[in-house]
Amino acid sequence: MSVTHRIVVVGAGQAGLQLCETLRRSGHTGPLVLVGDEPHLPYQRPPLSKKFLTGELDAVRLALRPAEQLAKLDVALKLGTAVLAIHRDAHEVALADGERLGYDRLVLATGTRVRRLPAPGAALDGVCHLRGLDDAQAIRDRLGAARRLVVIGGGFIGLEVAAVARGLGKDVTIVEAQNRLMPRVVAPLVSEHYARVHAGHGVHIHLNTQVEGIVRAGEALAVALDDGASLPADLVVVGIGVVPNVELAREAGLHCENGIVVDEYAQSSDPAVLAIGDVAWHRNVLLGTSHRLESVQHAVDQAKNAAATLLGKPVPYAPVPWFWSDQYDLKLQMAGINRGHDSVVLRGTPDSGAFSVCYYEGTRLLAMDSINQPLDHMLARKLLAAGVTVPPTAAADPEFELKTLLPAG
Ligand code: APR
Repeated sequence: MSVTHRIVVVGAGQAGLQLCETLRRSGHTGPLVLVGDEPHLPYQRPPLSKKFLTGELDAVRLALRPAEQLAKLDVALKLGTAVLAIHRDAHEVALADGERLGYDRLVLATGTRVRRLPAPGAALDGVCHLRGLDDAQAIRDRLGAARRLVVIGGGFIGLEVAAVARGLGKDVTIVEAQNRLMPRVVAPLVSEHYARVHAGHGVHIHLNTQVEGIVRAGEALAVALDDGASLPADLVVVGIGVVPNVELAREAGLHCENGIVVDEYAQSSDPAVLAIGDVAWHRNVLLGTSHRLESVQHAVDQAKNAAATLLGKPVPYAPVPWFWSDQYDLKLQMAGINRGHDSVVLRGTPDSGAFSVCYYEGTRLLAMDSINQPLDHMLARKLLAAGVTVPPTAAADPEFELKTLLPAG
């Protein structure tokens, strides 16, 4: 590896930008090219389902770095340009505008795209999926005039949009295919709390329900459910998950599963190609597992990990993953990965509005979700990083001070 290598980064999101910044800050002097298919300067996605929709944040404030700061990085930005193919033998990528870019090292930060609603009417005007800035702008433009909103999908995106819309006084209905909210990520205890809070704010919730189709009914839309109901809507927002953009890598013969497979140094099955961020099926040596993660923390941390690899100073990837979701006055903060847990321990009382849920495999703490308990969350991250478990009986006692378990120093 060399600091003078020509590095091409595909995907101008949080991970791609962070990589360029860390490389420059760490002494990389070679050419850096950042290619992105969206026309916008790299921007933050989390506010798209929150303060951007309410109008509290505008598009300019979403930019991850102001244009002047980007210019100082000396990165060749090719925005609004898709990469069509990777030619690994020639060490080149082919761009949609016909150009071919040579690379010494290629980094794929291609992220994910939304799953489209698999039902008739999903492409009707007024049915909006939410992933990028343009999607969020389309929803924001329609939200003001809309009276009745149907949200399809009760994950982070759907619930955050529902909370925002209730705050704006809209009539909101959530349709979730499974039997509880946020089923992919949290324990039933947390799902139930969120269902109570949303219902308390006046949101109508349909669980175990599929959308059969959407039709235009005069000025409005009608969402037909599989239980026979038909919901009138002025706006439908779909948030039913994402799929990783692996096609470029797969067509180039790189090893892909549910993501581009990379090791703990962000290296793919071709040593000249790395992958980072939402698209990377990566190894985390602290957790001892491989997985794909959709989070800002992971995008930033793995970009730094890849920069170290590119600079010839590889460090195995080992951070504690964390996530968050803001809905109404509820701050959900999640530390660790709860996959594989066989029991959960409740810490505090949901009725008080502030509590944590601890996920265990045997007596080993795997993860903690904290609801309006930022101190628990911070300490969980520290304990997990230090490999310290919390005895389940201690975790269940809200008076027990988690910080007493932290190693000295
Ligand atoms: N009808 C109704 N609900 C559905 C359907 C369907 N046809 N298909 C899936 N769902 C539900 C799932 O059961 C799940 O509860 O949609 C929900 C989607 O939740 P997530 O998978 O968490 O995805 P989403 O909320 O779209 O978030 C996508 O953006 O902010 C990030 O962290 C978030 O990485 C995640 C991504």
